[in-house]
Amino acid sequence: MFLLTDAEVNIRKKTFTEVQTERLEQAEQTVLIKCPPKLNEKKLLQYLSSHGNINSHFFFENRGIHALIEFSEKDSVASLQDAIGIPSAAEHHVVPFKSRLFTFTLKNPVSQAAEETPVHLSPQCHIPVKELIQKLCNADDISSQMYILLNEYQLTEENIKLRFLACSLVRDFTRAYFPDSVVKPFGSSVNTFGKLGCDVDMFLDFHDIRKHTTTMKKGPFEMEYQMKRLPSERLATQKILSVIGDCLDNFGPGCTNIQKILNARCPLVKFSHQPTGFLCDLSVSNSIAIKSSELLYIYGCLDSRVRALVFSVRCWARVHGLTNSVPGTWITNFSLTMMIMFFLQKRSPPIIPTLDQLKELADKKDKHVIGGYDCSFVSDLSKIKPTKNTETLDVLLGDFFEYFGNFDFRKNSINLRKGKEVNKPESSPLYIWNPFEQDLNISKNVNQPQLEKFVAVARESAWILQKEDKTQRMINKEPWGLAALLIPFGKSNPSKMKNRMKGIGSETIRSLLDSLKLNNANSLEKAVGK
Ligand code: GTP
Ligand code: MG
Repeated sequence: MFLLTDAEVNIRKKTFTEVQTERLEQAEQTVLIKCPPKLNEKKLLQYLSSHGNINSHFFFENRGIHALIEFSEKDSVASLQDAIGIPSAAEHHVVPFKSRLFTFTLKNPVSQAAEETPVHLSPQCHIPVKELIQKLCNADDISSQMYILLNEYQLTEENIKLRFLACSLVRDFTRAYFPDSVVKPFGSSVNTFGKLGCDVDMFLDFHDIRKHTTTMKKGPFEMEYQMKRLPSERLATQKILSVIGDCLDNFGPGCTNIQKILNARCPLVKFSHQPTGFLCDLSVSNSIAIKSSELLYIYGCLDSRVRALVFSVRCWARVHGLTNSVPGTWITNFSLTMMIMFFLQKRSPPIIPTLDQLKELADKKDKHVIGGYDCSFVSDLSKIKPTKNTETLDVLLGDFFEYFGNFDFRKNSINLRKGKEVNKPESSPLYIWNPFEQDLNISKNVNQPQLEKFVAVARESAWILQKEDKTQRMINKEPWGLAALLIPFGKSNPSKMKNRMKGIGSETIRSLLDSLKLNNANSLEKAVGK
């Protein structure tokens, strides 16, 4: 029932770097146009075509209708910029900067209004959970429910274009300071696990410049200064982000709520980019984070079940308050995704390979050593053998909850490189090895109560999936399957949930565990390290 379009199939076969490069190039050839509420699409396109061939376009709503126009060539943008007037401002002084954000005004709005037909608006956010639950209830089975959720929540082609455009528009500013810099997205905008509405993580990349300096032939001259020399990389990063933050604040069209968070472990500038409607986090090139994005991209492309499971589990975790949009002591989406990948590595036969196996498939061009860590793994997806595992998604979802509901978190840690549990090297409640910086725990922030909550909700969910009768629930017009898991448990049946959650380790839970055919009824206390 879930068919990829031809375009998607093609995109999926490309390497992460190829997709990134292509999309960044397209974004450089793109402009954003604010349109009047009623619009003659044909006329707009006709006018724009006089500046060059249009590759693709779409309309979306963001405080008024906007059009994203992607030309086939970059020159068309310059041609359009030259033909456009800068508004004469009586009260405001205009900073002389040619942006790629335009307003389209009709000379004679009254006479043209008659010819206008409503344009198709591409959605940039997902449907509310309530509406989703209704849709899920009409599905045939849990696997179909999971694909429906994926289809509703995943980033659309249009939304991805808009994300790359946001990066490219920020680049127009970073270039003023660092002419060869590039602003690239990472994290869930590009790792195939992004949901409509998620933030845009972007980083300022000087990699190309560095590559150039190291490969340059040594002549008799050396550059006295490439830049002012600073005592540490961290200080350089902070200074760079500070000036870029000021620049965006003072001159960036539509950049608002700029917050410089320079003392964080990973310094960043947060801001809202109003023209595209995104919340953005800008940091300076972090090669390990990019490798993590690429690794997840590979896993997400390997088998359609991977993304379907991740979207369902992430949505489930959000509904139950196991994850949160602000940082804290709870599990992050990133950690949760790694837990799902680990679970998929542990299936028999495995659905995705371990990181060590991906490393074995790497060739010369895949070799990457970052800060002393070997981060090499295969980039060519066609070299990875498809899995022989044919388990259905409903089995995987139920087993995911059961697996982590009974995981010995007290003793074991999660290691994606090896694809197996290893003894915890230290006492953090949840220990997930950073796949690349092997001495770091990506879930160090998670505290004991949050882990306990995760385990309890996972157990409750496993119980619901095993016990509850779809037919009966449909007769009662109650949400079933995945839909039943997306309603906060206290709300769907407060008394039932209270009893089940009360006093972990009580008789109620014990019988519940028995019903799940768990080997060790005491494992809950042990699992969460009580
Ligand atoms: P969303 O919640 O959809 O935004 O997921 P995300 O994967 O984009 O997460 P987030 O925006 O929090 O972080 C962006 C990227 O930073 C992640 O994809 C990771 O590459 C990296 N990252 C986030 N948190 C951690 C962490 O705790 N440790 C490490 N090593 N990297 C992290
Ligand atoms: Mg993110």
